[in-house]
Amino acid sequence: MHSILITGGAGFIGTHLVKRMVKKYPDYKIVNLDLLTYAGNLENLRDIENAPNYTFEKGDIRDADFLQGLFVKYDFDSVIHLAAESHVDRSISNPMAFIETNIVGTVTLLNAARSHWKDLIGKKFYHISTDEVYGSLGDEGFFTEATPYDPRSPYSASKASSDMLVRAYHHTFEMPIIVSNCSNNYGPYQFPEKLIPLMIHNIKLGKTLPVYGDGLYTRDWLWVEDHAAAIDLIYHEGKIGETYNIGGNNERKNIELVHTLCDIMDELMGKAIGTSRQLITFVKDRPGHDRRYAIDASKLKHELDWEPLVDPETGLRKTAEWYLENQNWLDAVTSGAYQRYYAEHYE
Ligand code: NAD
Ligand code: TYD
Repeated sequence: MHSILITGGAGFIGTHLVKRMVKKYPDYKIVNLDLLTYAGNLENLRDIENAPNYTFEKGDIRDADFLQGLFVKYDFDSVIHLAAESHVDRSISNPMAFIETNIVGTVTLLNAARSHWKDLIGKKFYHISTDEVYGSLGDEGFFTEATPYDPRSPYSASKASSDMLVRAYHHTFEMPIIVSNCSNNYGPYQFPEKLIPLMIHNIKLGKTLPVYGDGLYTRDWLWVEDHAAAIDLIYHEGKIGETYNIGGNNERKNIELVHTLCDIMDELMGKAIGTSRQLITFVKDRPGHDRRYAIDASKLKHELDWEPLVDPETGLRKTAEWYLENQNWLDAVTSGAYQRYYAEHYE
């Protein structure tokens, strides 16, 4: 049986990917390895937890002995690596957690694969990364796979380091790797520290909506299930040693996005349009805030015929509806247990 280790499968993107792979490929064995930090939640995976081709393993990608045992136990054919510390603001208040998980954790995982995979034929180490490694754009231009790395936050620097280490293992040890770098994802199950779920959560509660700086920062928003579909495609058809950019073709300035969310939420909550916009408050800017990210995903379009399918209006509405309907999930992830985990381990 084809056996895949997915790391970080209880996080936001991992949840969508694990569900897709478990349901679509009953002949694959999918093992989800996750430490269940504040960002990981097994509730997300209730509907597939008893599937015969799925297993959850709680563990840490920094733990070499644990990983060695896991490779022996399941004899993985491949790894899809998503586990990471993922929030820029946390990386500013605590860079070391990002160095440990994103850099040391990735190398520890590479070493485990390398020492277990005596024969590399049919093996694959697929590393999931971000467009933030390319730095910040002005008003014009797009990131391509050839754009030089220029990371500017501790988060993006840690992801850039891990990307380079993955590529170095390919060149030095012939590790069969693939890397993809995607833009900002959005959709259900995203922890409400990131812009879109934070705004929806605060609108629900009637709390202020903190917009950093002048609000004219731009991100390219990608519907998370479109991303999961791209990962599935790249996993199966991508070329070993290659990098693929994945984007939503959906650039928005933060303030425009927040306005749209306010109006969708007003409509869904039966309030007069304009009510929630009054909650917007411009706050102190994020240090080193990257002005604009925008992906050129034409390589993926031309080589593997991938395009994002969900239009932004539909995606944002579906996201708002999901957060309105899933108050229990929001209560669980914001209850404090997750914050305590972080405090105990890193502060
Ligand atoms: P997330 O923070 O929602 O989830 C990360 C998961 O990793 C959590 O389940 C957490 O418990 C797990 N984890 C953290 N440290 C671990 C460790 N030491 N050992 C094992 N598991 C650990 O992140 P996400 O938004 O789902 O992002 C997934 C991946 O995609 C990350 O590598 C991130 O850098 C990348 N990415 C995310 C976005 C985005 O918009 N969310 C954009 C580009 C790239
Ligand atoms: P975020 O979701 O943290 O993703 P990233 O920093 O990885 O792009 O932030 C998206 C944008 O929204 C970014 O320009 C910062 C901004 N932002 C706010 O203005 N207010 C907020 O409360 C948050 C969390 C983000």
